[in-house]
Amino acid sequence: MPALWRRPLEFLASLPAHGDLVELRLGPTRAYLAAHPELVRNVLLDTRAFEKGGVFDKARQLLGNSLSVSRGEEHRFQRRLLQPAFHPTKIAAYTTAVADDTRAVTDTWRAGQTLDVSDVMHALLMRIAARTLFSAGLDDATIEEARQCLRTVSHGIYRRTVAPLGILEKLPTPGNRAYDRANARLRRIVAEMIDRRRSGGDADDMLSTLLRAEHPETGERLDEGQVLDQVVTFLVAGSETTASTLAFVFHLMGTLPEVEARVHAEVDGVLAGRAPAYDDLPLLPCTRNVITEALRLHPPSWMAMRVTARDVELGPRTLPARTMVLYSAYALHHNPELFPDPETFDPDRWTPERAARVPRGALLPFGAGSHKCIGDVLALTETALVVATVAARWRLRPAPGTRLRPQPKATLEPGPLPMVLERR
Ligand code: HEM
Repeated sequence: MPALWRRPLEFLASLPAHGDLVELRLGPTRAYLAAHPELVRNVLLDTRAFEKGGVFDKARQLLGNSLSVSRGEEHRFQRRLLQPAFHPTKIAAYTTAVADDTRAVTDTWRAGQTLDVSDVMHALLMRIAARTLFSAGLDDATIEEARQCLRTVSHGIYRRTVAPLGILEKLPTPGNRAYDRANARLRRIVAEMIDRRRSGGDADDMLSTLLRAEHPETGERLDEGQVLDQVVTFLVAGSETTASTLAFVFHLMGTLPEVEARVHAEVDGVLAGRAPAYDDLPLLPCTRNVITEALRLHPPSWMAMRVTARDVELGPRTLPARTMVLYSAYALHHNPELFPDPETFDPDRWTPERAARVPRGALLPFGAGSHKCIGDVLALTETALVVATVAARWRLRPAPGTRLRPQPKATLEPGPLPMVLERR
């Protein structure tokens, strides 16, 4: 427990050396880390034996019974209803907004300026999330307010899900009061958007798709409370993760000018000065490899868990019902058996020839099975569009003395990353 608490990333990365299934003593509790990709696949694909429990039960109190915390039949029902919002045609329709918002932000940049790329990407992704969810419904001040609320809520959810004593979160401490205020305000902002949409007609955004969604067999729909929970979940699950990925990408590219130069050449060749569109993305393999490698090195979703629903065999053991089973993208991605020289940022690992040699299930930034991230394609699309839009005009250099120190919280956060802007 103390090792996991003090230096979680180093501790997790050290575990695969102890075996494919590693027993951990977390105080009085026994937990297991599935360290081998095939065991992780077993855990993630067999949702009847390994279900969302433990921290997800806690998160359910905070996020409602939304997609990320529901299980069984309820999960299958929600997934079918929500999937249309993430259909490639919908994602393609959001791309103009992503490129426009990125251009609007970068148009305010000045050569020689130093900015915190983590902060800038978080603000930009909140703006993009607001547009994809609510079209032009939110003004800039409310988007910024929602971002601050989201940050407080996300940290609060993390503290509450890992805190051993539920009573602590009920005390009227300044932190708990700030959490309650931020949570209430965020939900009010989303509820107002739903109300306005209900009374003011349709739009081509995610909110309208959710309000219109109908189960293909039963015709059932989500009620307003459920739509609210899903939207808050999308904001919590989708904006920090994508923003952090972008911050990691820019920092890593800035530390390797040779890689950066290849991305610049690719973007210049394909776009020749125009804004990127969805159809351009397959033509940007170098950009994609940089993003994949950043997700390998710094997976925002660094650890997740399941609970056994019954006695179940996993690798060499039979685990009793209600056993906690962890899987960690960070541990997989930093295992030298799976990725030689794992600490090195090497986007060429993902050229088709080399990628074919990566063991099945070793790369897992979005999970797998029926709980696999529903926003994976959206996140990858947004990330590639932002990188291409910025790279077409700007070179970002880490400010002297900057050291990347990823911080494992609810997601893996990059921390402050000051970078100096150079116009290309
Ligand atoms: C780089 C960005 C992202 C990363 C790394 C990421 C990662 C993940 C991972 C690993 C899971 C599975 C967790 C588990 O196994 O317990 C997940 C689930 C989920 N993600 Fe993402 N995600 C990202 C972006 C997004 C976006 C943009 C959205 C929505 C707008 C989103 C919404 C969700 C939801 C709703 C779930 C639960 C899915 C289910 O249980 O059926 N994520 N994400």
